[in-house]
Amino acid sequence: MKAVILAGGTGTRLRPLTSYLNKHMLPVGKYPMILYSIRKLKEAGITDIELVTGRSSAGLFTEFLGSGRDEGVSLTYRIQEEAGGIAEALKLAEPFVGSSPKFVMLLGDNLFEEPLTAHIEAFGELEEGAMVLLKQVPDPHRYGVPEFDAGGETIVSITEKPADPKSNFCVTGIYMYDSSVFSFIDQIKPSRRGELEITDVNNAYASKGQLRFRTLAGWWTDAGTFDSLHEAASRLREGEPE
Ligand code: G1P
Repeated sequence: MKAVILAGGTGTRLRPLTSYLNKHMLPVGKYPMILYSIRKLKEAGITDIELVTGRSSAGLFTEFLGSGRDEGVSLTYRIQEEAGGIAEALKLAEPFVGSSPKFVMLLGDNLFEEPLTAHIEAFGELEEGAMVLLKQVPDPHRYGVPEFDAGGETIVSITEKPADPKSNFCVTGIYMYDSSVFSFIDQIKPSRRGELEITDVNNAYASKGQLRFRTLAGWWTDAGTFDSLHEAASRLREGEPE
């Protein structure tokens, strides 16, 4: 399976740090943030990876990561000229994904404990559709929040940053798609904030009954704010050898 890591965006909640440095190059514990996503994929046996990032940061990533050789992966790069949303960034990876029937997409600011291996295997067994990984959080209004059917087995829909969350789960930035994702992206319209939202893509799968989910057991955080960045750094330091 291939994987796409999104490492663009403007990182507004981490200014002024992100005024001069791409969020995914900020230090988390001992390493720049981007390394954790790459290592999580490698741990799950995925080594064919495309990184999508903004024009002004691409040089930093190529200088630090190069071909991916030092990490034992094969990296390619794709440039998102302007921030236009997660789904727009993903669409840029269509030529890379090519004819692969299924792939993984990670938001590069999502940091988490458990290996992806079992989740990816479970997705691999499905004939078609998409899978999201969920995590119970104290502040679901900051995220995409799923609403479940009465039996709690299926996601009926996801609401992006709801004022009144329908559950205390968030949709993490770990997504698994089949190749129909690109035609779903073609069908969605920009949201009120002018972006192609990944939540709209996931809802397209949900409306066809093709959105599966699994739940993350270990800790998870998106390192998009100072508090969550700090939390991620201390959790990761705990697990690292000196
Ligand atoms: C994005 C997604 C959201 C998801 C979150 C996970 O939010 O839009 O659905 O829950 O990532 O990190 P953003 O970080 O762009 O606000």
